[in-house]
Amino acid sequence: MSAPTSVFYRSLKKPLPRIVSGQGCRLTDDAGKRYLDACGGAFVANLGHGVKEIAQAVGRQLEQVAYVNGTAFTNEPAEELAAELSGLMPKGLGKFYFLSSGSEAVEAALKMARQYWAERGKPGKHKIIARTPGYHGNTLLALSASAREHYKAAYAGWLVPVAMIPAPYPYRCSCQGAPDCPACSGSALEAAILKEGADSVAAFIAEPVGGSSTGASVPRPDYYRRVRDICDAHGVLFVADEVLCGAGRTGRWTAIERYGVVPDIMTLGKGLSGGYVPLSAVAASEKVYGAIKDGSGAFNHAQTFSHAPSICSAGLAAVRYIKQHNLVARAESVGAVLQKKLSALKSLPGVGDARGVGMLAGVEFVADKTEKTPFARELKVAERFADNAREEGLIVWPNYGQWRGAGDLALIAPPFIITDSEIDEVVSLFSKAWLKTLDQIKAAGRMS
Ligand SMILES: Cc1ncc(COP(=O)(O)O)c(C=O)c1O
Repeated sequence: MSAPTSVFYRSLKKPLPRIVSGQGCRLTDDAGKRYLDACGGAFVANLGHGVKEIAQAVGRQLEQVAYVNGTAFTNEPAEELAAELSGLMPKGLGKFYFLSSGSEAVEAALKMARQYWAERGKPGKHKIIARTPGYHGNTLLALSASAREHYKAAYAGWLVPVAMIPAPYPYRCSCQGAPDCPACSGSALEAAILKEGADSVAAFIAEPVGGSSTGASVPRPDYYRRVRDICDAHGVLFVADEVLCGAGRTGRWTAIERYGVVPDIMTLGKGLSGGYVPLSAVAASEKVYGAIKDGSGAFNHAQTFSHAPSICSAGLAAVRYIKQHNLVARAESVGAVLQKKLSALKSLPGVGDARGVGMLAGVEFVADKTEKTPFARELKVAERFADNAREEGLIVWPNYGQWRGAGDLALIAPPFIITDSEIDEVVSLFSKAWLKTLDQIKAAGRMS
């Protein structure tokens, strides 16, 4: 029996272990059980748990001044964080709007895109195009742009229509590498813009490297060049949602950097503060910023905690810590080791694919490896696996429903400080938990 609680949790049917401390890649609960945090919580704890420098920097700022209203005042941490980030983003993304969650950042980014066109005298350009599978957050506009039907079903009628194109998902695509595949080449975007009418489309939003929805699927090297060209040809803004894949996770400060393309707007969140406070950001290009500055002169998206010194101080300390300890380079070099070791899991029965880049990896489970048939959804394979992994002391991120309503994935996205021996431990605990899951599925008579 779990202790009674007055907290309204997201998941109400199972008791949650109570975590009392964290250090490096490890968490400890109140019973003394230790967990290897192989997904940084929710792709957040990029620097590891318990980094005193960050806690101290935030503490100093709270003593000095915790909050000022961002409409009335500026403050040092916001100014310095923006200056640091402008040196790390793709060239041209130099103006930063700070918020607290990824959903807020996506909401603000999409509103910013629409306001940009209104300021330019084209208020009819209001539609958004996004990808399926894809996820951009849980507030109503961000959820509208997310292809996650089981999150959306209860809110039908409140959400706005968003046109969807197929996301590049090489493992599942039937194109076998054909250069003109609409999904994998990006040409599907052009067809969607023409169908909607370019005069009505404000922006295309995409996660540069797939997050939980496609389990770290990496688009082709020329995908975003094509996307950029299509957006430019039709006057559509390109919004790169780097809430999950940004802040160093793929072994570059931003995942789009490898593609040599600059989006018009970018969102950051999750790992931006390493999880020490809730912090997100919208990075805008001069073009977008200038249109609003020279037009109405104000961005219509006020939130109480935007640009607050408390949140920005954590971001500033985290970004400086990452730089000082070369953690992005480490995400690339140790990330390559992680990817190689995880790819050995493909030899296990029921593991269809293991893929990713840097410190972002996805493992996809299938009932039949040749046909890539997903497990029946009622078996809840991803959730069952995550529970088994947690029992073994390994924390992974489960996702399901990405393939025609079925499909099971587990994501591995550890703190960038993970060591080689901890990676071996991840792989060994993963295998153990997966074999246990397979036994349970077989015992249920659902696999031979
Ligand atoms: C790519 C992406 N965008 C936006 C969000 C929303 O972020 P948050 O949960 O902080 O609101 C998420 C969350 O998982 C995400 O993965």
